[in-house]
Amino acid sequence: MQNLKSHITNPVFKQIGIISDQEGVETYVVGGFVRDLLLERNKVVSDIDIVTVGSGINLATKVALTLRKNLKVSVFHNFGTAMFRYDEIDFEFVGARKESYRSESRKPIVEDGTLEDDQKRRDFTINALAISLNNDRYGELIDPFNGLKDLEDKILRTPLAPEITFSDDPLRMMRAIRFAAQLDFEIEENTLLAIEKQCKRIEIVSKERVSDELNKIMLSHKPSVGFKLLEKTGLLQLILPEVQKLKGRETINGISHKDNFYHTLEVLDRICKNTDNLWLRWSALLHDIAKPVTKRFDPRLGWTFHAHNFVGEKMVPRMFDRLKLPLNEKCKFVQKMVSLHMRPIVLSEEEVTDSAVRRLLFDAGDDIDDLMTLCEADITSKNPEKVIKYMANFQLVREKLKDIESRDALRNFQPPVSGELIMETFNLRPCKEIGLLKSAIKEAILEGEIHNDYEQAYQYMLVKGAELGLVNQTTKKI
Ligand code: CTP
Repeated sequence: MQNLKSHITNPVFKQIGIISDQEGVETYVVGGFVRDLLLERNKVVSDIDIVTVGSGINLATKVALTLRKNLKVSVFHNFGTAMFRYDEIDFEFVGARKESYRSESRKPIVEDGTLEDDQKRRDFTINALAISLNNDRYGELIDPFNGLKDLEDKILRTPLAPEITFSDDPLRMMRAIRFAAQLDFEIEENTLLAIEKQCKRIEIVSKERVSDELNKIMLSHKPSVGFKLLEKTGLLQLILPEVQKLKGRETINGISHKDNFYHTLEVLDRICKNTDNLWLRWSALLHDIAKPVTKRFDPRLGWTFHAHNFVGEKMVPRMFDRLKLPLNEKCKFVQKMVSLHMRPIVLSEEEVTDSAVRRLLFDAGDDIDDLMTLCEADITSKNPEKVIKYMANFQLVREKLKDIESRDALRNFQPPVSGELIMETFNLRPCKEIGLLKSAIKEAILEGEIHNDYEQAYQYMLVKGAELGLVNQTTKKI
């Protein structure tokens, strides 16, 4: 059996081994830490799972005492677990358990068990590997379910029959898909079949846990792998029915539209090469989300998806709310991206005028670079000439954006002339003329008639005010 002594270098491991020997209990490090160590995955270690054949709470408390006086130990009596944070790492301790769940509830029936009992109730063989920490067996790998072989073969397989493992915790169906996407692994055939059979059980899992897995799929290097599996197993229909509806092509009069599901996945994979921003990735997933509901066939025009960007913008908060994703500025950002996602392409199809670029900059504000990244990812045409043309036009848009931004500072547009000043100048009470003047000034700036500065805006206000029959009270006084 492989010995991993030289890899188990964190001094806390040694300490856990010493205390375990004193207490006369077997103790192991298990789970993701062992998996990632064997995969040589360059991931910052943030949590480490420790299993002891005895009391996890007792062991955690005693180890903590020897590490640092007053090291805080959080104890969860209900679960028989305890944890402490040491050197930025959460060490989580649990006693080896036998565990099973009643079919209608996630509340487990728990009894003490052996190491193997504990390993077999874990989700996948690659997550059930354990390394001994007791002195006489320090570094020994314990692998009763051939997890090492599955790691080498890049296979996700459950230690028990998959129906049992998934029924114990249906979130594991999502975890299987998440690991497949993150690690580039295949899900073993029977394991995949079991997910298809039991997919409906995902409904008993909290939305927060499901979204957590979805976000991890989103943050993987090629999320399409995960979304194709979610679709194949029936999970997508249950958790993201709107995305499921993107799938398929319809043909009328011999004219088909593209399959928006596969197009969306292509956009998502493409954007991942250029950004790690989770919410920009969500924007890519949802940019065409309203295409199915806005789809019409017009005998003259073919397929149209009129206003799908605006309808999509409205769908985003409803989806985020249901998925328990944040409804704050993150959601607003995704809405903005969905709403504006066609603007740069429309712009680049026509002549790229200064005023159109100014308007885009005004509407996108600080998110303009993200919007451009989304739009570039949205070019999935198979026609290389078209791609070259679009990309060149985007480049032009980017250059114009830079140029106009340096001249007009429109990114975070603040009206250079305030409502108060308009009221004071023309001696007005709140009335519609103030709004008219403000928007006339904004339009003049966007059209490039005046610069985005106080002096020009003030002069323009006087001219427009006079046109509206308003009298400049400040000159009257003089
Ligand atoms: N585990 C499980 N079933 C779950 C969640 C976790 O069997 N639904 C077990 C697995 O052995 C897993 C370990 O608990 O390896 C730790 O779980 P967690 O910290 O959630 O995941 P990791 O496997 O460590 O992976 P990551 O940190 O990438 O999420």
